[in-house]
Amino acid sequence: MTTNDSNRVLIFDTTLRDGEQSPGAAMNLDEKIRIAEALEELGVDVIEAGFAISSRGDFDAIHAIAKRIKNSTVCSLSRSARADIDAAAEAIKPAKRRRIHTFIATSPLHMKVKLRMTPDEVYDAVIDSVSYARKLCDDVEWSCEDGTRTDRDFLCRVVEAAIKAGAGTVNVPDTVGYTIPSEYFDLITMLKNRVPNIDKARLSTHCHNDLGLAVANSLAAVAAGARQVECTINGIGERAGNAALEEIVMALRTRRDAMPYRTGINTENITKTSRLVAAITGMAVQNNKAIVGANAFAHESGIHQDGVLKNAATYEIMTPESVGLSQSKIVLGKLSGKHAFRTKLEELGYDLGDNALKDAFRRFKDLADKKRDIFDEDLLALVDDEIQTENERIRFVALEVVCGSRGPQKADLELSIDGVVKRTTATGDGPVDAAFNAIKALYPHVARLKLFQVNAVTEGTDAQAEVTVRLEEDGRTVNGQGADTDTLVAATRAYVNALNRLLVKREKKAPEALRA
Ligand code: KIV
Ligand code: ZN
Repeated sequence: MTTNDSNRVLIFDTTLRDGEQSPGAAMNLDEKIRIAEALEELGVDVIEAGFAISSRGDFDAIHAIAKRIKNSTVCSLSRSARADIDAAAEAIKPAKRRRIHTFIATSPLHMKVKLRMTPDEVYDAVIDSVSYARKLCDDVEWSCEDGTRTDRDFLCRVVEAAIKAGAGTVNVPDTVGYTIPSEYFDLITMLKNRVPNIDKARLSTHCHNDLGLAVANSLAAVAAGARQVECTINGIGERAGNAALEEIVMALRTRRDAMPYRTGINTENITKTSRLVAAITGMAVQNNKAIVGANAFAHESGIHQDGVLKNAATYEIMTPESVGLSQSKIVLGKLSGKHAFRTKLEELGYDLGDNALKDAFRRFKDLADKKRDIFDEDLLALVDDEIQTENERIRFVALEVVCGSRGPQKADLELSIDGVVKRTTATGDGPVDAAFNAIKALYPHVARLKLFQVNAVTEGTDAQAEVTVRLEEDGRTVNGQGADTDTLVAATRAYVNALNRLLVKREKKAPEALRA
């Protein structure tokens, strides 16, 4: 399959840029590199690694990713100012394949209120930014922000100018998730019919999910002739998120009869990548989420179970294996050795380094002591936890609680903070409150708890609890996750994980560019 094939759709992943703009989804350098490597393995064509001028952290992450990634194109976003474009060009410099993605808003509302520019000034800025970017990089993408609410005559004018100035890709974002499939189809068709040099560029879609139509709109654009789709893993992104990569790719693969387009995605890597992004961002995937939700391949009703047992095609339009879900349910037990543990993790798509493997194996043994059957889901929760805690400044050591109806509820907590183990006892309104008060006593902070959510990873009373905690401080939001057979330990781990993310976020300079 070549990218020149007229039915080949390029997958442009923006998990590390638009996805990171989700409330709570802060990622540190190592985490971004890990996701970029997973995206490359997944087979995405373009990785938008960040917005170089927005912060030192973004710049460094793009630069580090550009050094490592060999097969995917590495891209940085930039506004139309030359300083932005310079920063983007510098950040992607080490990449084997690189792209600058420059954008400016073109809708009447955005031009007037946000940019305070006239349409003619915006037109000039398009030409200046694209031609300047082309001097620094051969591969330039241009986006008309709020494209779906842009006057059509003006849109044709700026798209033609951007292509003439050297843009090889023209992206038409539905920035506010406002369009509907038939309208977006017409918009792309209109550009193909009216812009004289449109055949010199690849048309691209970038849809937000405010009305739950991001995937449907993206597919409509493909049917109209777009050959690049911008999307994120698990659909994370600003507000209601972006079009979900896994949904677009599996829709194209499953309904090739109706949509004869191909992507270069190794779909067997989808589940693993989804889990990695959920673990790193702390943004849990809802159970009924298409393709990657815990229930996506589960059959509950007797009639459905009977049908699937007779022939899976009765109620399954794609196989679990096609997205990398393994068939085997019960995997390891108390007597399993390290070799079997490593092999099973590899089967699930995880290749941990020696130290992480040692730690994960120790925790697996602890878990096997408490829980009779160890399912794939247990191992995944355990490894996700391991991945999260690897670089944390604050680490969970031990917890003992006194709880029950008599009170007072008490938590005796040990944390390691920057390598020093500290211990305290605190009371609270219930054991969770007591544990969280103990964290506050050991590491004073003013962040407020915005969400506390508990899920059982598997069935049964010995199931592991997976807890999500959301904290907010000075307008910054972070999510943390923790898993354990003891719900209070899981909750404490989740809080500590969120706190570590907050520390990462505090270090980041205010994202100037995002406010412009
Ligand atoms: O949604 C949007 O318009 C964007 C652009 C910067 C491409 O994310
Ligand atoms: Zn966007």
